[in-house]
Amino acid sequence: MVLRFLIFFFLLELAVSNNEDFLFNGFRSANLSLDGTAEITSDGLLRLTNSTKLLKGHAFYPAPIRFKRSPAGKALSFSTTFAFGIISEYSQLSGNGIAFVISPSSNLTANTGSQYLGILSPRTNGDATNHLVAVELDTIYNPDFQDINDNHVGIDVNNMTSIAAKTASYYVNGSNEFRNLTLISGERMQVWVDYDGDGMQLNVTLGLLGLTKPSIPLLSASLNLTDVIHEQMYVGFSSSTGSFLSSHYILGWSFKMNGVARPLVDLPSLPRRTSHSRLALALWLSLGAVLLLLVLIAAGVSVVVRKIKFSELLEDWEVDYGPHRFSYKDLYDATKGFKDKGLLGVGGFGRVYRGVIPGSKIEVAVKKVSHQSRQGMKEFIAEIVSIGRLRHRNLVQLLGYCRRKGEFLLVYDYMPNGSLDKLLFNQARPGMTWNQRFNIIKGVASGLLYLHEEWEKVVIHRDVKASNVLLDGELNGRLGDFGLARLYDHGNDPRTTHVVGTMGYLAPELPRTGKATKLTDVFAFGALLLEVACGRRPIEHQAQGDEVVLLAWALRNWRRGAIIDCADPKLRGQYDAEELDLVLKLGLLCSHPVPANRPTMRQVMQYLDGDVPLPELSTIYLDASVVEVLQNEMSDCYSMSSPSSFSTDSLLYGGR
Ligand SMILES: *[C@@H]1O[C@H](CO)[C@@H](O)[C@H](O)[C@H]1NC(C)=O
Ligand SMILES: *[C@@H]1O[C@H](CO)[C@@H](O)[C@H](O)[C@H]1NC(C)=O
Ligand SMILES: *[C@@H]1O[C@H](CO)[C@@H](O)[C@H](O)[C@H]1NC(C)=O
Ligand SMILES: *[C@@H]1O[C@H](CO)[C@@H](O)[C@H](O)[C@H]1NC(C)=O
Ligand SMILES: *[C@@H]1O[C@H](CO)[C@@H](O)[C@H](O)[C@H]1NC(C)=O
Ligand SMILES: *[C@@H]1O[C@H](CO)[C@@H](O)[C@H](O)[C@H]1NC(C)=O
Ligand SMILES: *[C@@H]1O[C@H](CO)[C@@H](O)[C@H](O)[C@H]1NC(C)=O
Ligand SMILES: *[C@@H]1O[C@H](CO)[C@@H](O)[C@H](O)[C@H]1NC(C)=O
Repeated sequence: MVLRFLIFFFLLELAVSNNEDFLFNGFRSANLSLDGTAEITSDGLLRLTNSTKLLKGHAFYPAPIRFKRSPAGKALSFSTTFAFGIISEYSQLSGNGIAFVISPSSNLTANTGSQYLGILSPRTNGDATNHLVAVELDTIYNPDFQDINDNHVGIDVNNMTSIAAKTASYYVNGSNEFRNLTLISGERMQVWVDYDGDGMQLNVTLGLLGLTKPSIPLLSASLNLTDVIHEQMYVGFSSSTGSFLSSHYILGWSFKMNGVARPLVDLPSLPRRTSHSRLALALWLSLGAVLLLLVLIAAGVSVVVRKIKFSELLEDWEVDYGPHRFSYKDLYDATKGFKDKGLLGVGGFGRVYRGVIPGSKIEVAVKKVSHQSRQGMKEFIAEIVSIGRLRHRNLVQLLGYCRRKGEFLLVYDYMPNGSLDKLLFNQARPGMTWNQRFNIIKGVASGLLYLHEEWEKVVIHRDVKASNVLLDGELNGRLGDFGLARLYDHGNDPRTTHVVGTMGYLAPELPRTGKATKLTDVFAFGALLLEVACGRRPIEHQAQGDEVVLLAWALRNWRRGAIIDCADPKLRGQYDAEELDLVLKLGLLCSHPVPANRPTMRQVMQYLDGDVPLPELSTIYLDASVVEVLQNEMSDCYSMSSPSSFSTDSLLYGGR
């Protein structure tokens, strides 16, 4: 009996231990279970994502690995190392990253890509029943997960918020210092993950491929995996891409239980970053000696023509901005010559075109802004470039710019669903449900909170309004055009102080002080809340020439105890009454005429999330005359100012 048992265990041990040590120097003949975009290339590279946007892929060792001696036992020691490389279209833009995963299942297809790296989803994030351990190589800064920056290595346990994370870097032996690495540089790098089951310590070491393993790990976390890990687990990789074209490669992988993973040798090389070929000129020149002269003349002429046609302004100080600078020719080609066919809209600041950057499939919106003055240009561009570093899922990503004489071109991520005001007010399109509206509101609030409080600098948007809220493929609200209003502040006409913003969204103190603040943004956000809930513009013109100020109208309804009457009739009564009530009251609170009474965006977020109850409006709107003051002040401020000193139109995808 005992013998039978022993033999049984021996066989079991044998069956399992077969899989406890494996080594792939390249994956040409590897048997992995792949899904999504993951594939093995003819060069033997494991490509987790190809360069297409917003995709994910997984690759797992096909058989489970025994991580414990018994279901209730403690996790055993293991060691693994892999080589990877990330190649992205633009040298400073990429997304989202790679994760090494230990998971109870080799089927992670149900998880979310993008910032969840294909290992978790909004529903499962933070849940201890995931039984998931991951080492993330994250190339996007995401404040939702308390990321430290857009180039870090982290240890995740059931939660996208890492238990330990550091900027990608490696220890240089003997030098007593860590040297920074850029994950998306396209260089081949190596990661070692070592777990000591007795000491309950997980080490992660990063290095450059070809150098020996640094003697000090990048991350070293005490981690009791007893309850996290099951007896049998799968190991593999997951990767996802965001808005930027990026390919994530694994070149080789070695794994061993209860020992040191064997070293990687003779790994395949990475493909080069695809660069856009520019000149077909060389082709022409090789046509033959007889035609050479003719061709040279022709080419000469064409170069001159091209030079004029595609000329741009580039000054010494701009050279540093490298990847943020697009060539005019690329933008010209992307938009097929700025043809009206690709026109997305016309706004106060200029025309916006849809385009596809040549050589890649990246869809963009290109805004042409005419700008005569050179004054403040350097500061403005520095600001644009710094804004290009803002990353948040509720902001329209600014990819870069191009500058020509009298003209400035801004390149943004393309937003397939256009702007919020078009969806709200276009009769031809089906109305939006309350859930969609509420989700958009929360998204915009989170984007604005990021600008105000979560980025390294405070960014005042200055022009929050429905036409500046763009909707991505999943109808998430994203704020566009932040900071662009500065272009007008900076210098178009230095003699007059322009108040930039849009009627109906302008805080009453703005025309007086001329100074945009976080609280003037909050005021505009309040107007946006009312607009979305009521389905009415902040200021509507009646047939008799009267103006109705939405804020005053909503306030009157609230005072007679019937704020819910403000609900957009297009909702046909289909809404969550509590949420609607919250949004309407929060709108009134944010748009309070006295700046000190307005909440901060952080508070707004807490109210919207239901974490903190909304303060009683009556204590804040005590003064009975507030409504009248408001109606008058807003109308006055409208009639007093000549319309031309306001930018009454949209910036990004055009106006009304
Ligand atoms: C990337 O993968 C997707 C899905 O497998 C495929 O449709 C697309 O053609 C691939 N793109 C490239 C550049 O290989
Ligand atoms: C790959 O591995 C799986 C699981 O170990 C096995 O069932 C399958 O037969 C293997 N396929 C090949 C082609 O070796
Ligand atoms: C993976 O899981 C998804 C849903 O979670 C399921 O639809 C799919 O069939 C599974 N794939 C495999 C190969 O088991
Ligand atoms: C994930 O971890 C962070 C930090 O420990 C924590 O604040 C957050 O609540 C966790 N997320 C969930 C969904 O539990
Ligand atoms: C490494 O990068 C971090 C984060 O970007 C930065 O704070 C640090 O100064 C860099 N260290 C060196 C030596 O460049
Ligand atoms: C982890 O790193 C620490 C500090 O360098 C070291 O003392 C320990 O032995 C390492 N553990 C493993 C499992 O590599
Ligand atoms: C770094 O130090 C470790 C341990 O002392 C050693 O094994 C390794 O060869 C060294 N690497 C280099 C590049 O000197
Ligand atoms: C590890 O976790 C298990 C289960 O929670 C617990 O029983 C054990 O005491 C822990 N070990 C240490 C060293 O804390």
